[in-house]
Amino acid sequence: MTAEAASSAIPVPPAHLRTRVTGVEDEGMFQFFGRRISGEIRALFDTAGLPFGAPGQKILDFGCGCARVLRHVMPEADQARFHGVDVDVQAIDWCRVHLADSAEFTVTGRRPPLPFDDASIDVVYGVSVFSHIPEDDQRAWLAEFTRVLTPGGILLLSVNGAAVARMATTPVREQLGTEGIAYVHDGGIPGLPDWYQMCFHTREHVEQNWPTARLRIMSYTENAIMMCQDAVLLRKAGGDREEIR
Ligand SMILES: C[S@@+](CC[C@H](N)C(=O)[O-])C[C@H]1O[C@@H](n2cnc3c(N)ncnc32)[C@H](O)[C@@H]1O
Repeated sequence: MTAEAASSAIPVPPAHLRTRVTGVEDEGMFQFFGRRISGEIRALFDTAGLPFGAPGQKILDFGCGCARVLRHVMPEADQARFHGVDVDVQAIDWCRVHLADSAEFTVTGRRPPLPFDDASIDVVYGVSVFSHIPEDDQRAWLAEFTRVLTPGGILLLSVNGAAVARMATTPVREQLGTEGIAYVHDGGIPGLPDWYQMCFHTREHVEQNWPTARLRIMSYTENAIMMCQDAVLLRKAGGDREEIR
């Protein structure tokens, strides 16, 4: 079976779960963006010369929702081991029923910890999660990802950067100009917690505030995810690869 046939064989989640991750219930949009993002993640790894989905690699989808992305990523990397976590109990329940053979799914909290040992995960990616949560939470998660990643492990996160900020209100753009980050209450999404709102970052803010002695930015790519979110690729210190920057 081809990877595309394998992902098509996975049932489509119900409309309310699709709406929570895509913003609309349209099934075509759910499939289109899931497939597109999966390809975008792979392209970011390829461009950086990094393996994605290698046999035995342990990959975590942080904020996986109802597996919009995982359903396309997993069939193309069937020798890797996948985990998905989310605060959305209904989405994780759906994944557990329909994707139990392909990945392990866990409900996690607003803030760390993750249910993984230190240095046990090779790749963490989070699509459209830091674009919705407060900065204190982001800081706590960056530290937690650093804990669970193997030495040399890779972290990929998407953020609402300059392209999305162009569509924001004037006060949001002003706050971005002075603070480099704006966490904005926009009404939220039915079914998700109150703190799940909108967050915008400037590239400079990410580049100045995210790196630590143990976590370095490898690349910052504008409009890399869904043609509008920026992608930040980071690497935990250690392992046998040299820092790119
Ligand atoms: C826009 S949706 C994207 C879902 C998925 N990454 C995708 O691209 O289809 C954001 C997801 O992040 C989850 N989320 C938000 N904060 C989280 C947190 N602190 N821990 C785990 N998941 C979180 C939400 O429940 C939601 O499923």
